[in-house]
Amino acid sequence: MNKAIIAASALTMLTTGFVATTAFAGAESKCKACHTFEQGGKHKTGPNLFGVMGSKAGSTDFKKYGKSLKAGGWVWDDENMKAWVCDSKKAIKALTGDDHAKTKMGKQKKCGEKADAIVAFLNTLK
Ligand code: HEC
Repeated sequence: MNKAIIAASALTMLTTGFVATTAFAGAESKCKACHTFEQGGKHKTGPNLFGVMGSKAGSTDFKKYGKSLKAGGWVWDDENMKAWVCDSKKAIKALTGDDHAKTKMGKQKKCGEKADAIVAFLNTLK
């Protein structure tokens, strides 16, 4: 490999990393309006999200859960979290198996690769 090719591939790697990071930076700032991510962080409009992956839905000491999330019963994993950040209003129905289930969290429209980036980030919070 000559130097130009090495430089070009290094640049590609850098750019890819950059895109992945910025894709989440936008998404994260949106969540931050209502959530904190650090251990012991306080609840805001929504519950603190430290350690949320692998935990039972609605299981923090946040006082303002809606009925459906509070009744929970599912454990947050990559798949259901992706569905949640894309469309929580739809996901709550699928997760509870109740067509009338509601959540207080609005649809975030973070779907596809944005959802992947958010889930990857949430998985680091432990
Ligand atoms: C406008 C405020 C708001 C924004 C923005 C928001 N959320 Fe929420 N979130 C809430 C509220 C309120 C709840 C509780 C919903 C309920 O009880 O029905 C919640 C609940 C959650 C839960 C369930 C936690 C648990 O304890 O089971 C997760 C996970 C979550 N949000 C992730 C996110 C992520 C990731 C983002 C960014 C893409 C985000 N939220 C953006 C308000 C928000």
